[in-house]
Amino acid sequence: MQRGCTVSISPGDEILISDGLSAHGLSKRFGDLVALDGLDLTVGRGQLVGFLGPNGAGKTTTMRAILGLTALDGGTISWDGAPMSVENRRDIGYMPQDRGLYPRMRVGEHIAYIGRLAGLSREGAADKARHWAERVGLGDRENDLIQELSTGNQQRVQLAVALVHEPTLLVLDEPFAGLDPVAVAMLSTVMAERVAGGASVVFSSHQLDLVQDLADELTIVSDGKTRVTGSTSELRRRSPTRLLRIEWDGPEPSWAPENATRLDAPPGVSVFRVPASSDSARLIAEAAREGTFASISYEPPGLEDVFLEIVAS
Ligand SMILES: Nc1ncnc2c1ncn2[C@@H]1O[C@H](COP(=O)(O)OP(=O)(O)OP(=O)(O)O)[C@@H](O)[C@H]1O
Ligand SMILES: [Mg+2]
Repeated sequence: MQRGCTVSISPGDEILISDGLSAHGLSKRFGDLVALDGLDLTVGRGQLVGFLGPNGAGKTTTMRAILGLTALDGGTISWDGAPMSVENRRDIGYMPQDRGLYPRMRVGEHIAYIGRLAGLSREGAADKARHWAERVGLGDRENDLIQELSTGNQQRVQLAVALVHEPTLLVLDEPFAGLDPVAVAMLSTVMAERVAGGASVVFSSHQLDLVQDLADELTIVSDGKTRVTGSTSELRRRSPTRLLRIEWDGPEPSWAPENATRLDAPPGVSVFRVPASSDSARLIAEAAREGTFASISYEPPGLEDVFLEIVAS
C-alpha cells in the first residue's frame, strides 16, 4: 500500500498502517530450537526503542532477520506499511553483535568503503568517512589499521560504519558493550540526534540504567516472544509492586508495613517492597507514628526490577 493513499475500511477489517519498522509474528527455528516464536517489534519514525531480553531471548536473531541476514520461517517485516524491500535495507545502518571489520583496512578507508557499498559517491563517502571518524572520536586515527586499534576504538569504527550513509533505520546490537563513558555519552548523543532528525533507532542492551535514561519505548522479549511494550515509566507503573524508602532522622524503628518485604539498605534507611495496591498515604502516616524521618519516597521499582518481574513471569 502506498503512503498517503485513500483506503476504504469496512467494519471488521483489521488494518495496520504504520510509519517506520513493523516486525510482526516472527518465527524461526534452528533445528529443534525455537529462537523466535511469534515475536513482534515496532519502531516508529523518530522513535528510539530499547530491545531488551535475557541471553538467548531472540534479539540478535530478530535484528539479523530485519537486515535480511537470517531467513525467517514465518512473520512479516515491513517498512512504512509495505514489505521491506532491498532498497529499504540499503537504508539501514547495522551494528552487529559480532563485530565484523576488516583488520587490515585503515579506519578512514574502511568507513568510506562501507559508505560506497551503501550507495554514496566516492567523494561523498570520503567526506562522510572524515565526518564520522571525527564524530566517533577517531579523527586522528584515520590512517591507522583497524587491527592496531583497541577493542573499544574498533567499536567506535563499527558505529561510524553503521552511520556513514546516515540511514533512516539504525539497528544496533549491544552498541554500548565495551565502550568507555566518553564513548557512551557520544553514542547516546548521536542516537538522540538521529531520532530528532526523524530516523528510527532500535538498540539492544543489558545496561538497563542506560536504557532507562535513553529509550522512548521498550520492547521486552523472552523465549522468542514479545512480553511487553511501553515507555519506561508506563512499564514501571504497571509493576505489581512499589518501593517505600525511608531515611530516618534518629533511631531506626523495627517497624515494617503489612505485606512488605524488607530489602537491603544502608544503616538508618529502610526500604520495603509493598504491593502496588497499598495506600501510600496510610503507609507514610504509619511511618511518621513509628519515628522521625528525613525523607520518604513511594515509587514504582526501577527498570531492572521490572525486567526481572517480566522475564520471570
Ligand atoms: N545460527 C544459529 N544456530 C543455532 N542456534 C542459534 C543460531 N543463532 C541463534 N541461535 C539460538 O537462538 C536463540 C536466540 O539467540 P539470539 O542470539 O537471537 O539471542 P539474544 O537475545 O541476542 O541473546 P544475547 O543477549 O545473549 O545476545 C538462542 O537459543 C541461540 O542459541
Ligand atoms: Mg544477541
